[in-house]
Amino acid sequence: MNERHRIVQILSQGLGVGTEEIDTLLEIPSDRSRGDLALPCFRLAGVLKRPPADIAKQAAADLSEKAVAGLASVEAVGGYLNIRFDPAVQAKKVLQAILDQGERYGSNEVGAGKTVVLDYSSPNIAKPFSVGHLRSTVIGASVGNLLAFQGYRCVRINHLGDWGTQFGKLIVAYRKWGEEVDLEGPSPIKALLKLYVRFHDEAEADPSLEDQGREWFKRLEDGDPEATSIWERFKSLSLVEFQRMYDRLGVEFDTYSGESFYNDKMQPVIDRLQEKGLLVESRGAKIVDLEPHGLTPIIIQRSDDASLYATRDLAAACYRHETYAFDKNLYFVATQQNEHFKQVFKTLELLGEPWAKDCVHVAFGLISFAEGVMSSRKGKVIFLEDVLDQAVERVDRIIAEKNPELPNRTEVAEQVGVGAIRFYDLSRRRIKDWVFDWARILNFDGDTGPYVMYTHARLSSILRKGVERGMSPLREAASIEFSALDNPEAIEILKDLENFPRAISRAAEEYEPSILAQTLVDIADHANRFYNAHHVLVEQPSVAGTRLLLVACVRTLLRTGLGLLGIAAPEEM
Ligand code: ARG
Repeated sequence: MNERHRIVQILSQGLGVGTEEIDTLLEIPSDRSRGDLALPCFRLAGVLKRPPADIAKQAAADLSEKAVAGLASVEAVGGYLNIRFDPAVQAKKVLQAILDQGERYGSNEVGAGKTVVLDYSSPNIAKPFSVGHLRSTVIGASVGNLLAFQGYRCVRINHLGDWGTQFGKLIVAYRKWGEEVDLEGPSPIKALLKLYVRFHDEAEADPSLEDQGREWFKRLEDGDPEATSIWERFKSLSLVEFQRMYDRLGVEFDTYSGESFYNDKMQPVIDRLQEKGLLVESRGAKIVDLEPHGLTPIIIQRSDDASLYATRDLAAACYRHETYAFDKNLYFVATQQNEHFKQVFKTLELLGEPWAKDCVHVAFGLISFAEGVMSSRKGKVIFLEDVLDQAVERVDRIIAEKNPELPNRTEVAEQVGVGAIRFYDLSRRRIKDWVFDWARILNFDGDTGPYVMYTHARLSSILRKGVERGMSPLREAASIEFSALDNPEAIEILKDLENFPRAISRAAEEYEPSILAQTLVDIADHANRFYNAHHVLVEQPSVAGTRLLLVACVRTLLRTGLGLLGIAAPEEM
């Protein structure tokens, strides 16, 4: 912002305070009726040994004298200097920026040369892809988009849960009852889940099954061919189903190196723990005592030498650092694993890894259903695929009612149904728990995905109608007719446009897509208010062209925003 720069210089000279100090003090007031920029003079009062109101007055005088281009007014109110820009100048600036940058508006290069590793989705093979994994998938994917938009190199990892004692159990169940389930059908995971549930039922009566399970996992770890081939079958059957989900969600990964990938990479970590004297024996197992750090012990090796989830995460973190030299290593996993990640990061720190501080557990809350808690051991799970199908079906019914003529209804219903679930998942602070509620998720007129998508479609339709009548948005912001935008509704939108890049940066920095989702809802609200209050396609070409330009810019932002959240923006719905 050029004016800002100029203002900082003038104030710094006039008051005899460093430019940096002024720059940090200058703020955009949360109550914009106070102005577009304000300088609170209270901290300066201490340095300059003058009352704040006095400083504000002098600052106002200094600025007025210099007649900075684009300034509408300066005013001292108590200890504040309030600055207002000329709205016409501001409007031209932001509209031109969007014209120039299109769907890149809001992007920047703060992350250039930096690498972020993102571990997300990471479902467990042979188990259903749950709604909890959906959260990890959509939050991780959209934070990846946001970071890439800020210039970061992103490495997207699906840390599949494809290793651990449960596969020993499943192998036992498969060898005993595998014939009785349909692994070649449309949902092999449902068949595998049956085996898993059966195992736990039978193990209640016959605890020796548990021992057999442990034994088979040991065999798997030791490379036994039979165990390996059964496990590979579980894995490939599961991946086909997961892939179906990822295709539908439009989610991609750079690598699927899951837990099994670290089977031969754990020993060096265990050795280093040993060398550092961190490994202690406890009831036959090897652990790191984290009690001095207020954490429960982390188990590194079981009494039968089998490795654990945490051991693999330690190896994975070291591998990622060696391979990608990351600046940040992010884990998108539910809050239930808070303790686990604290243990892992603390252990890395104790190992003397300076990059332990760059590992972040990006936690999120639970989704619950009216139907009750999920438990894969009891076979009580809600399959994501069923949830998506239902969403699409419901949206299809809504469209049939609202817009029966829509030509590509099936495609749009899929986009809106999947988008609705996705948006809902991203629209609340990620740490919050939430309850699945169809009426809210699919509301075309609430703070929802369908609402934002619908607003985008309406703006698109205004632009199409304009073309039909030979009216198009202005191509140069310099030629806008500002009086066409000089109303509270349009001014509100212009502020949205101006603030959009900041919302994106904040969402990226805080790993919080909800900031962007909420911003999109606000923009959609303001856009609706604008076109309900003002005609866009009016006689006077300069007014129509100006308002169409505003409409086109809002539409661009909604597209960009939805895209960053991984949601389609249909032209019509
Ligand atoms: N597979 C785990 C689960 O479903 C999540 C893995 C998360 N990533 C990690 N590196 N631990 O609970």
